[in-house]
Amino acid sequence: MPSFVPVAHVGDIPPGQAKAYVVGDFEIAVFNVNGDFHAIENACPHQGGPLAEGWIDGTIVTCPWHAWCFDVRDGSMTLGGYTTVDTFDVQVEGSTISVWSEPRS
Ligand code: FES
Repeated sequence: MPSFVPVAHVGDIPPGQAKAYVVGDFEIAVFNVNGDFHAIENACPHQGGPLAEGWIDGTIVTCPWHAWCFDVRDGSMTLGGYTTVDTFDVQVEGSTISVWSEPRS
């Protein structure tokens, strides 16, 4: 049964940074964009690069391996548009960040 799974506290992910967490069957990268949290699949769809370790500019993350770029809000690829990454709903209650255990459809 899908549910929100607590993964971190707000202070664990400073603005402009990301961290990866395992939620069920998924490894999910959680980004702090000026206090708004967004979650996408951590593995880049190209060759699996860790997107939580990518370069972050606003809502755009650039994969650290071969520089494919994705918008963390909707998982869209910003150059080329060949593919997308899965996105996950995020809930912040108090200081706890939780991620929905299944991707958005
Ligand atoms: S693995 Fe991400 S761009 Fe190649």
